[in-house]
Amino acid sequence: MLEATPRVSPATAGRHRLLAGAAALLAASIGVTAQRGPGQGPNGGPQPVPGLTLAQQQAFADGVRAFGRDYTDADGLGPVFNDESCADCHRGGGDSNRNVTRIGRQEADAFDGLERLGGSLLQSRGIGTVTTADGSFDFRGEDVPAEATITARRKSQPVLGLGFVDAVPDATFHAMADEQARATPDTAGRVQLVFDRTTGDFVVGRFGWKAQVPTLREFSGDALLNEMGITSPGFRDEICPQGDCLALGFNPAPALNDDGHEAEAITDFMRLLAPPPPGAATDDTRRGETVFHATGCAACHRPSLTTGPSPVRALDRATFEPYSDFLLHDMGPLGDGIPQASATGTEMRTAPLWGLRLRTRYLHDGSAASVDDAVRRHGGQGRDARVRYEALAEDARADLLAFLQSR
Ligand code: HEC
Ligand code: HEC
Repeated sequence: MLEATPRVSPATAGRHRLLAGAAALLAASIGVTAQRGPGQGPNGGPQPVPGLTLAQQQAFADGVRAFGRDYTDADGLGPVFNDESCADCHRGGGDSNRNVTRIGRQEADAFDGLERLGGSLLQSRGIGTVTTADGSFDFRGEDVPAEATITARRKSQPVLGLGFVDAVPDATFHAMADEQARATPDTAGRVQLVFDRTTGDFVVGRFGWKAQVPTLREFSGDALLNEMGITSPGFRDEICPQGDCLALGFNPAPALNDDGHEAEAITDFMRLLAPPPPGAATDDTRRGETVFHATGCAACHRPSLTTGPSPVRALDRATFEPYSDFLLHDMGPLGDGIPQASATGTEMRTAPLWGLRLRTRYLHDGSAASVDDAVRRHGGQGRDARVRYEALAEDARADLLAFLQSR
């Protein structure tokens, strides 16, 4: 937990440095040292936001460990899961080109997430054969059932800088949506409203491709369960393999897998993780920024937002530059057909453009191999901007791409 704590005194400054070193060492265990990648500073580890108190530095170091922790069968991995650690899909806190699969069945007037058959999120791996006094059961990865009419891929997103997004008050998103409805109705976004399991209220969703998750704390527990099969206080029920809950009789780790410590440590890691630093500005990128605004990209990819009060100094009423409004927009044919919370199948959250230069695949399914490709796939409310983009003179488009690649 990140409580407000006194600032570091000179006497503890030495330990301060030690802890930063420890974080870098721990980072080695999450496989990010070979190459400089997302969120990495000169010492090769994921970087926290600046100005942390000693307690916050400790929380970050423990979070680096928890985020990179490889779960094993003995820890309660699975029995069905997608991977063993957060860092397998979020390299050093950045993204990866690892996709997961969501399924569903579209009936004439309703969407069925096929929960009874293992949907809507599939777990592609299982822990294998488990034998008990009652016999044995083979936990295998889930398949797409014949009943599914929709199979959607979702690419791993970066988690860099998300502490800022977490700290934006709900009211800011509501005000932004109202303002867009007035000023730019054709491209106006909607607030995603989701149920917050912690408070029992409907709150603003902001994380995930459909903004389907309201807080980093919730994402932490959700991902522990749905990607790794680790149960924790907010998410106590194991996933039924391919929907077969009786199979859980063979679950070798039926007790709660995490008492809440790891979920909290992972939340702290994400909350304190620095945003991706932008690249150097050049004449090209400065011209490209003007084109970005003139082409209407900023209607959805809003350059900056401001956080509310936070016990973390760097996140306290701070302005940051995600290039997203985190609202839902109807993207027409670009949508993935999976409704989530209040989002329809065609609505998607504006993808933040910060850190674009660190990514190699784009769009929710990773289907775009270049930024240019990603822009040319905009449909629905993004169609007009795409048409303007395609009509740009060659050099103006090159400047715009240079600007995007500098984010
Ligand atoms: C098997 C790969 C995989 C693993 C393992 C995984 N994730 Fe993810 N992560 C994804 C994918 C795919 C998405 C996009 C999800 C969506 O919106 O459908 C995502 C999205 C996220 C986001 C939202 C980012 C944003 O911009 O809103 C957060 C936060 C996150 N993951 C945290 C975690 C944490 C914490 C763990 C470990 C407990 C974890 N993930 C483990 C694949 C993975
Ligand atoms: C109507 C809102 C809207 C407008 C206008 C818009 N975008 Fe987007 N953009 C989105 C949404 C939503 C996504 C995520 C779509 C998906 O992956 O399904 C996205 C995704 C992207 C991506 C891919 C990012 C990633 O990480 O995969 C890029 C690049 C991008 N937009 C650039 C632009 C540019 C450049 C313009 C102006 C020419 C523009 N966008 C205009 C809403 C918009």
